[in-house]
Amino acid sequence: MSELALYGGTPVFEKRIGYGRQYIDDADIQAVVSVLKSDFLTCGPKIEEAEQKLCAITGAKHAVLVSNGTAALHAACYAAGIGEGDEVITTPITFAASANCVLYCGGTPVFADLNPETYNIDPEKIEEKITERTKAVIAVDFTGQAAELGRIREICRRHHLILIEDAAHALGTKYDGIPVGNIADLTTFSFHPVKTCTAGEGGAILTNEDALYQKLTLFRTHGITRAPEAMDRPSEGGWYYQQLELGFNYRMTDLQAALLASQLDKLEAFGTRRKELVKRYDDAFSKMPELTIQKEIPQSDTVRHLYLLQLKLEMLRCTRREAFEALQAEGVGVNVHYIPVYSFPYYQKLGYEMGSCPNAEHLYERLISIPLFYSMTDEEANQVIAAVQKVIHYFKA
Ligand SMILES: Cc1ncc(COP(=O)(O)O)c(C=O)c1O
Repeated sequence: MSELALYGGTPVFEKRIGYGRQYIDDADIQAVVSVLKSDFLTCGPKIEEAEQKLCAITGAKHAVLVSNGTAALHAACYAAGIGEGDEVITTPITFAASANCVLYCGGTPVFADLNPETYNIDPEKIEEKITERTKAVIAVDFTGQAAELGRIREICRRHHLILIEDAAHALGTKYDGIPVGNIADLTTFSFHPVKTCTAGEGGAILTNEDALYQKLTLFRTHGITRAPEAMDRPSEGGWYYQQLELGFNYRMTDLQAALLASQLDKLEAFGTRRKELVKRYDDAFSKMPELTIQKEIPQSDTVRHLYLLQLKLEMLRCTRREAFEALQAEGVGVNVHYIPVYSFPYYQKLGYEMGSCPNAEHLYERLISIPLFYSMTDEEANQVIAAVQKVIHYFKA
């Protein structure tokens, strides 16, 4: 067996491979350059063009582009009417923004444990957490796999809750044949560079409800409008506008929107390639008893954003940290998604207690994310597999 790079052996990768990266082609570059040469760097026609593309891809009635996925979640919570005293149920294994957005609105995030096989929020645990103060559920499509949206939607309908879907990972995914973006009351996306399509930074909220759409567009620009119905003083002239709500500047620029519109043209190809890479990984890692791979529910046709390995630590003579560092030394850009949100000092200070979601805490101790991105070659995927095999064989108990 060859020596681990961690202990002075030759690394599998000569040059380190990242865990995710954007793919930018000439069409993307031209799209951005053409905006630079145009009259509008912001508030121009590219915003609506990209919004229309998102509607066409998902079948949703409305899309509202915003500056990032966190702003999208904030806007969704605002539109859902989350405020003081409201509880919103979400998963602990997610990026902090999925819960922070509730706090921004004065509400209280409530964490429900996840399914230990799919890693998505467990609908039964959602039901256990519902109180008379519960107003909404934020279901996260973790790694790109759709949450159990059928059951979650049914629970929300029965308890009169708003369903927000944090689909930051799941652009291109379908649930029961329906594109994510056209299922929940409000669906949010992120277009950060490691996501399936990027705008540099960017986000969007999709909805089929006209009333929610109106709130989202107001929120994106300070609560300010020039809509004729808000023009209450006929003596005022063409300069006139009104602020109806307290919003933010959450606008995306046309530079970002042009890049996004161009990226969305490649979504099909991006998704196909990600699925091929996931299959290659699944084929290799399902044969390794020391690893568990994420279970897919049959309803989800998944465009995977992240690929996670779960270590069976009882079969290994190492900690997760040692395996992580050994893979890093082999040149594999590893990461961990995610630290349970309620374990952060900020949340602990708010009174959240460790032990409240045991499946999430158990899973967190064992997870490692490995590289997955569109432009990864088969050769690179094979090298990642070889590096994982090398490290796992070395530490096998
Ligand atoms: C699940 C999830 N929700 C929300 C966000 C926030 O998106 P952004 O980074 O665009 O603000 C992210 C970002 O990584 C995420 O992974």
